[in-house]
Amino acid sequence: MRGAENGPVPAVRVRAVSDVDDELRGELLSCWTDVSNAGGAVGFVPPVTQDDVAPMLDRLIEGVRSGRDVLALLTVDDAPAGFATLVGSLSPLRRHWGTVLRVQVHPSYQGQGLGRALMGGVHEIARGLGWEFVHLTARGGTGVDAFYRGLGYTEHGRLPGAIRVGPGDDRDEIVLACRLGPRPE
Ligand SMILES: CC(C)(COP(=O)(O)OP(=O)(O)OC[C@H]1O[C@@H](n2cnc3c(N)ncnc32)[C@H](O)[C@@H]1OP(=O)(O)O)[C@@H](O)C(=O)NCCC(=O)NCCS
Repeated sequence: MRGAENGPVPAVRVRAVSDVDDELRGELLSCWTDVSNAGGAVGFVPPVTQDDVAPMLDRLIEGVRSGRDVLALLTVDDAPAGFATLVGSLSPLRRHWGTVLRVQVHPSYQGQGLGRALMGGVHEIARGLGWEFVHLTARGGTGVDAFYRGLGYTEHGRLPGAIRVGPGDDRDEIVLACRLGPRPE
């Protein structure tokens, strides 16, 4: 991240979004497409076009507009830099528990602590929803589970070979969960 000697420190924010206008949809679409083409494990295998990603994004937006899900939008100096979605359960037995999907930081911003900032924001939003646990899955063989372990997630098993990234290349789906403690100081 830029330091004081290189100009002002950028303003990093994560906010909960409950509606997505056309401009933001376009930003999310290019982010998700660029992340996928850079090898990110967010539902696709490269190469993909925006047309490939759009149906999945529109399903995500539908969930957000319905009020069931929440979009956590990461911005740097007000420009979108990444996102994740918090997916709630309709079961009355699971109101304390939720799932996080599509965690991603645009490749031009990766490796600067923004993924950690995004997940901090996700946890803050989750606490606001009354969640005590967050669950997510990671694609085996990518190493990304180490990112989550560094944030306090623990592994609770693997679905063997559940993700087929190509012929003869099946990956485990790693199940991770984190108990949300009290809000950090
Ligand atoms: C995973 C992702 C969100 C991390 O964001 P980021 O901004 O690059 O990560 P940060 O700079 O905040 O890294 C925080 C810590 O996690 C570690 N880390 C980040 N990505 C990692 C990876 N892929 N494997 C192992 N460790 C990783 C960093 O080294 C850093 O460790 P440190 O605190 O000890 O220095 C980002 O790389 C991304 O969008 N990847 C593509 C999409 C994807 O695969 N998402 C996962 C879906 S399950």
